[in-house]
Amino acid sequence: MKENNMYIVWAHPRSDSLTAQVVKEIQGEAQEKGMKVATLDLYRIGFNPALDVADEPDWDNPNKQYSPEVHRLFNEMADNDTIVMVFPVWWYGFPAMLKGYLDRVWNNGLAYGGKDFPAKRVHWVALVGGSEEGYVKYGWEKNMSDYLNSAGGYLGIAETRITYLYNTIGVEEDITDSKSHYETLFEQARGVVAE
Ligand SMILES: Cc1cc2nc3c(=O)[nH]c(=O)nc-3n(C[C@H](O)[C@H](O)[C@H](O)COP(=O)(O)O)c2cc1C
Repeated sequence: MKENNMYIVWAHPRSDSLTAQVVKEIQGEAQEKGMKVATLDLYRIGFNPALDVADEPDWDNPNKQYSPEVHRLFNEMADNDTIVMVFPVWWYGFPAMLKGYLDRVWNNGLAYGGKDFPAKRVHWVALVGGSEEGYVKYGWEKNMSDYLNSAGGYLGIAETRITYLYNTIGVEEDITDSKSHYETLFEQARGVVAE
């Protein structure tokens, strides 16, 4: 595995979205710090998130050959020491596109099931439409953090990190200067690399 290599997987239907901009900020910062960065834009590659028979795990056979796309995407990821997953929070979870990527590509016998997860660290970057206060108050932050940390533990990922970018819709009452609000979010996004 190559050191200092970052692989960013992201899911958003619009390439001019805030999510896309956050990806650009992380990518730019990582490149400035001398990292080699590749991105996987799941919507633009036309990724199909629905797991079909070809990619269904065979629990008796960790060496099952999946669809060529799954092996290609897994190998592409496996060459990197840092994986960054960027997504908007939809219904307090992943967009179906990203969930489908996990279902299909992080498959039995590749990412788990007798194999070590290839990357050292996985950093999840979640864009939350609402406020931190609400996300924490109703248990969503704990729910998502527990889920992602537990998944990281199950996969044997040495380091799981999670960054929440709050108020992405920018309608909270306490946001008076929306330009500086988004600047703060971008700064926080760049911090994903510095941490
Ligand atoms: C289908 C859908 C579900 C959403 N669910 C939530 C949610 O559960 N909690 C929340 O805070 N925001 C929710 N949002 C708002 C998104 O998180 C917000 O639009 C996104 O973070 C903004 O980034 P973008 O401009 O790149 O889309 C949802 C948006 C959509 C489209």
